Amino acid sequence: MKRVLLIIGGGIAAYKCLDLIRRLRERGIGVRCVMTKAAQAFVTPLAVGAISNERVATELLDLEGEREIGHIRLAREADLVVVAPATADLLARMAQGHADDLATAVLLATRAPCLVAPAMNPAMWGHPATQRNVRQLTRDGVELIGPNAGEMAEAGEAGVGRMAEVAELVERIEAMLARGRGREPGLGFITVASAPPERLPLAGRHVLVTSGPTHEPIDSVRYIANRSSGKQGHAIAEAAARLGARVTLVSGPVQVADPEGVAVQHVETADEMLAAVEAALPADVAVCAAAVADWRVAAAGRGKIKKAAGAAPPTLALVENPDILRALAGRKRGRPALVVGFAAETETVVPHAQAKRTAKGADWIVANDVSEGRGVFGGDRNRVHLVTATEVEAWPDLTKAEVAERLMRRAARWLEDARAHA
Ligand code: CTP
Repeated sequence: MKRVLLIIGGGIAAYKCLDLIRRLRERGIGVRCVMTKAAQAFVTPLAVGAISNERVATELLDLEGEREIGHIRLAREADLVVVAPATADLLARMAQGHADDLATAVLLATRAPCLVAPAMNPAMWGHPATQRNVRQLTRDGVELIGPNAGEMAEAGEAGVGRMAEVAELVERIEAMLARGRGREPGLGFITVASAPPERLPLAGRHVLVTSGPTHEPIDSVRYIANRSSGKQGHAIAEAAARLGARVTLVSGPVQVADPEGVAVQHVETADEMLAAVEAALPADVAVCAAAVADWRVAAAGRGKIKKAAGAAPPTLALVENPDILRALAGRKRGRPALVVGFAAETETVVPHAQAKRTAKGADWIVANDVSEGRGVFGGDRNRVHLVTATEVEAWPDLTKAEVAERLMRRAARWLEDARAHA
């Protein structure tokens, strides 16, 4: 039987853990719980113990508890450690490597993979200190789920900070248990949860990402553009860097900041983007997330086109831009091992994406539904299908950061499998 060690933090979302425990046990997964002091103000150890059918651990220096199952045993016997809800304080203490209560001591002593479900007020989540701690934790190999956007427990508050839903947690926990990586036999007494850089899933890989729109000049002051914000492409570059890759991001003009730890090439036009992409090769993975303008003006004027009284408006003759994805996927020499494209579709999303995958020679297409009302352009969430040569996976509604993380972890596994079969 697979075993999850669930660390329950002190937040109103702690009540969702009762349902989470029940859902996991229904699936034959054993759940042992550790509760922080603050968690016990929201749900009682009695309720958690009854639902998990296991003794609930609450104290680090509890003589009885340590004799029965001490923190080292709790840490060792887990196939996966889940922290839900993870408060801002718990995230900070994890990022710092504290071990002054049972929850943090277990987290420091385990080598099992770790999933963290943050839940807090949106202002606390958005604070640079929390974001810094989250970046540190992901660098240490911890996986994150959520927080989601929505209503807060505090009346009238909304924003990003709600804990991921139980169904999302169950899905992710099952996936992580199925992956089964990270548990190593023969643990020493003192072990740490952090993954050293060489163990990060994309360590030693070069990931090339295109992002944002392109601007195609009409004259020296006007241009053709589109609504792409660059959020998804930038999130992919950031996720790849966090997972240990060397990353080159070729970005059109965007408002989002350059991600940390990524080499960014700023370009304007499709021609410039293609040149920057080719200059960045070789790469192990290429992700074309840019919304490259399909056409440019055949003869863009040097100066500003003037209105002349009574004259007809100018006619713009367009020519097709190079297709960067097609060019990368079709390279005879120096083709990245994995070429991933995006498809923005408004109807029959999957068949169109499948056709696009074959037409462009890409290995995978991430298809998203950009029909009106979905709020994909400029928004923070995305619902996508991953279309490969053999399957179509419908991913749940996720933040763009979560789509990015999933995609890059998927790419890392694909590269590992390819290496194993080489
Ligand atoms: N792409 C590219 N260079 C182009 C056009 C597109 O690299 N000149 C890439 C995009 O980065 C994306 C995929 O190709 O990965 C999207 O293909 P595209 O044919 O532009 O499809 P859509 O934008 O979905 O639009 P349409 O269906 O209208 O062609």
